[in-house]
Amino acid sequence: MTQTNSINDYESARKYNLFSFANAPHKDYKPFHIDHANGIYVYDEKGKEYIDVSSQLVNVNIGFNNKNIIAAIQKQAERLAYIAPRHAFDEAGELSKLLIEEIAPKNMGKVLFTLGGSEANEFAIRFAKAFTGRDKILSKYESYHGSSYGASSLTGESDRASLFPTIPGFIKFPAPHLYGYDIKFKTEEEATKHFLARTEYQIQQEGPDTIAALFIESVTGSNGVYLYPKGYLKGLREITKKYGILLVCDEVMSGFLRSGDWFACQREDVEPDIITFAKGVNSAYAPLGGVLVSKEIGEYYAQNSFTAGLTYNTHPLGVAAALACIKEYKRLNVKEHVLELEPYLKQKLAELKAKHKSVGDVRSIGLFGAIEFSYSKDHKDVIRKNKNGEAFLGNLIPDLRNKYGLLTMGGGSTILVAPPLIITKEQIDEIFVRLDKAISEFADDLV
Ligand SMILES: Cc1ncc(COP(=O)(O)O)c(C=O)c1O
Repeated sequence: MTQTNSINDYESARKYNLFSFANAPHKDYKPFHIDHANGIYVYDEKGKEYIDVSSQLVNVNIGFNNKNIIAAIQKQAERLAYIAPRHAFDEAGELSKLLIEEIAPKNMGKVLFTLGGSEANEFAIRFAKAFTGRDKILSKYESYHGSSYGASSLTGESDRASLFPTIPGFIKFPAPHLYGYDIKFKTEEEATKHFLARTEYQIQQEGPDTIAALFIESVTGSNGVYLYPKGYLKGLREITKKYGILLVCDEVMSGFLRSGDWFACQREDVEPDIITFAKGVNSAYAPLGGVLVSKEIGEYYAQNSFTAGLTYNTHPLGVAAALACIKEYKRLNVKEHVLELEPYLKQKLAELKAKHKSVGDVRSIGLFGAIEFSYSKDHKDVIRKNKNGEAFLGNLIPDLRNKYGLLTMGGGSTILVAPPLIITKEQIDEIFVRLDKAISEFADDLV
């Protein structure tokens, strides 16, 4: 593959684009210039190779340049590039059947397709309010559910304040994240009991009859790949059921084999009422997200019309990409591959933690991992700076890229290790050789 973009195009992008997730004022913002990508690698405009350690935004699960998915999109574009979403077409029927009959938990009955994860959550909020006739929505602190208005109101990050006032009636409950938590529990079960009791108390205080749904990422994603203490998700399922509150699992990041099963909630044997998904459903070859609803909610819509919608719901190109991507997951035995590599990634992360004092915690499930740098509640702001007083992650991420050829994402004091699921053991080794060197150089002198 040869370089196609000129430096002038890059300057035009800098001059005219407003970049999402830009972490500096636009006049100082120098976006990384990517030219092309293949497998687990991306290449800059000079042809330099980088390993994509986070699969971009944890969405390019199957890796780049998959010829079968590209061919499916081309074929779909020629046959039927678009129809209004109130009409039916074969590929959407085939994908819906595959999702409901084969992939989703057994209690799911219908699926709506959106363009991405935020929209999926917007529709899930609507469905939950309509089905229950209730108004309030619970979600967790230290969560991310998207950037549109409803999804931002679900999001539990402290810097969501830029959006205040969020939608009234969106209430946050404490995150069961054990690392850095001020109470030390003897067992995970004890932690689970503690956090479930707090959430149930909150439900009772808010008035169970007023709460439509409780949203939770099945694995907390961009806030640091937090896995919940044993039995926590199952406990939430029981509490929500007890009060007639819908449980919505946001699987936008954790779904589609990232966590070792189609959906991470399936690893816990939890059947939510609604699942939202996006990203890995077609590995980002075209925009697509969706909402799976239970048979009961499906039956509600069998009896009621649903007049809302977006022009690009069920977009044929996204649908064709999803069908082809799921076929690729199966053809390449991706689920088995992820489960085989799961303990290896855990081991490599544990070795990194044992070696580096700056690594405070490591967490992973499937090929969904995080490295959290040393953390202390009292010294949170200090510890995130290096000895020159510079913001730590703000430097580490560009350094990992420029000096070590590792492209990843992070937030707070955490970076993600979530490479494309087709990665080999040898390629994982290569990532960790480079991470080891980079952390010795940049992080072990944290103040
Ligand atoms: C768990 C979760 N939910 C929702 C979203 C929003 O998805 P999108 O960016 O496709 O709107 C994201 C995006 O990262 C996510 O990680």
